[in-house]
Amino acid sequence: MNNILTYETVSLDEKDNSLLILDQTRLPNEIITLHLRDTDEIRQAIYTLQVRGAPAIGIAAAFGLYLAAKNIRTDDYSEFMARLHKAKEYLNSSRPTAVNLSWALNRMENIALTDNSKSIPEIVELLRRESIAIKSEDTQMCRKIGEWGLTLIHDGDGILTHCNAGQLATSKYGTALAPIHLGRERGMNFRVFCDETRPLLQGARLSTFELMADGVDTTLICDNMASQVMKNGWVNAVFVGCDRVAANGDACNKIGTSGVAILAKYYGIPFYVLGPTSTIDMSIASGNDIVIEQREEKEVTEMWYSRRMAPEGVKVYNPAFDVTPHELIAGIVTDKGIARPPYTESLKRIMLP
Ligand code: MRU
Repeated sequence: MNNILTYETVSLDEKDNSLLILDQTRLPNEIITLHLRDTDEIRQAIYTLQVRGAPAIGIAAAFGLYLAAKNIRTDDYSEFMARLHKAKEYLNSSRPTAVNLSWALNRMENIALTDNSKSIPEIVELLRRESIAIKSEDTQMCRKIGEWGLTLIHDGDGILTHCNAGQLATSKYGTALAPIHLGRERGMNFRVFCDETRPLLQGARLSTFELMADGVDTTLICDNMASQVMKNGWVNAVFVGCDRVAANGDACNKIGTSGVAILAKYYGIPFYVLGPTSTIDMSIASGNDIVIEQREEKEVTEMWYSRRMAPEGVKVYNPAFDVTPHELIAGIVTDKGIARPPYTESLKRIMLP
């Protein structure tokens, strides 16, 4: 069966020397794959959210850096490394919040730094292998997150999710939606409520699309309906993804997530954050240290509307992410297990090599 889940979110086309992505700005109306060949195109695709979601942008950037390395024409190691570093910084400047981007790029650069006795073609080959490993490890991590997440819910449960932390945000399965997809493989049924996720509608356009493709009972709600849905008793658990988790468990995710956590607390519904260990940033003590991306005003005033819906000149505040305080989080579900409060202790244990 050919549906959105049969497409790769992000992959390397080795014969064509290109990065292959699904253009997520066109979903769900058109399924279009793009071949991106140079660093400019790849940075732009990340910035414009043609490829998006923390793990997926890390993978895209890793493939992008490998392709950049392949195009560096020199036999001189220092010159090679200087040019590689420049390409890395350029890709890293595409979006500031998700740590997976710098995590994947640093991992790639470190591979090139570890052995300067190798020839340039040998280093390029190491970079190729590393970029492929980053993607395949992501699939494995997402599957494990799915396994751990499944231990928290039962067949028939109602789950509320915000934004898209599904297959379209990762290499496969997703993070917040991995337990749902895995449950489907095992014949389980869940009722999933997707917040539309203003202003870019990742919930309405992407989460509903991939869940319906998997045969999940899916209901789309506007962001301001979550309280009513919870009050109705339809939600057994909230599952959301994350872009960066601090050492104390504060979790940064798509704007609006912290409001959902506050509602869940009020209604006594467990609120879980699901993410790979590559999204946990032990170098920052709390969510206060996370840089929040600010995006263009037009995403709020006119995008998706057939005509502008706000007066010209109105001031717009458009942060792309917010931080949910750790006190509101019942558990952080990772590929290495479920961290529970106090997170300063449990995350330290999970992040041990
Ligand atoms: O701006 P986006 O669409 O990249 O934001 C995505 C999210 O906030 C996701 O929830 C997060 O990256 C986790 S994806 C597994």
